[in-house]
Amino acid sequence: MVTVRAPATSANLGSGFDVFGVALDRPADVVRVRRASETTIEVTGAGSQFIPEDPDENTVGAVAEALDAPAHIHIDKGVRPASGLGSSAASAAAAAVALDRLYDRGLSKKELVPIAAKGEKVVSGDAHDDNVAPSILGGFTIATEGGVTKVDADIPLVTCLPDIVVSTRDARAVVPDGARTAQVVKTVGNAATLTTGMHRSDPDLVGRGMDDSVVTPARAELITGYDAVREAAFEAGATGVTISGAGPSVVAACHESDQRAIATAMVEAFDDAGVEARVYQTGIGRGAEVVD
Ligand code: HSE
Repeated sequence: MVTVRAPATSANLGSGFDVFGVALDRPADVVRVRRASETTIEVTGAGSQFIPEDPDENTVGAVAEALDAPAHIHIDKGVRPASGLGSSAASAAAAAVALDRLYDRGLSKKELVPIAAKGEKVVSGDAHDDNVAPSILGGFTIATEGGVTKVDADIPLVTCLPDIVVSTRDARAVVPDGARTAQVVKTVGNAATLTTGMHRSDPDLVGRGMDDSVVTPARAELITGYDAVREAAFEAGATGVTISGAGPSVVAACHESDQRAIATAMVEAFDDAGVEARVYQTGIGRGAEVVD
């Protein structure tokens, strides 16, 4: 039996659509695996009633198949599905690390990233690595076709999860087909600023680099209260605010001294828009770890 904890993540960070991601220090999924002749899945915890236990439909089924590692897999969800906090990626990441250990496959964490991404494809229809990479490796990750780069960074974050469901498939359907050159120029500048900010653990640079005019405005339409929450977070001191992953969570970067006020402001702004929300005062955390 092997037990692995893998963290929630926040992908995109505005300017890094399908490329940037950070591991959050909470919440997390815990996956326990034991050898079996065929894969079976049991899901408990946050939102488990919405998660299929059929291995063909569950993110971890694809991971077990890719590793040729049939197992009984118990997923205890700390991360609600369709939250924008990398819920399916956390399960896939934890399963990849756990099954690799259970069957002594000896793969490196970087080698496990594309395997966990196969699980992500089951859920979102696309195999992008921007959630699974930070969930496995921790820190801030840059996932491109050429591979994954990891930066250790320390940035206070607030993530606010409204009681709205946005599926990744729906959120991807509204992404514009293209961008104008002026938008591309702006995005490159912001992505470079954000990456430099991560290297320096500088919340001001990271926040400035989170601005995005390509994907985020289209997705904001799917999140009741988004504009008001964003404004409230900025007024309370956030250095940058954007949609977390495919939404509906909203993520703010900040200085530690402003974290609590931002958390309160975001929840109140959602409440004013008639939406209940829960908030995490968090930061950039570690990747998946064997805990037992
Ligand atoms: N980069 C992905 C998206 C993250 O924004 O659609 C969600 O899986």
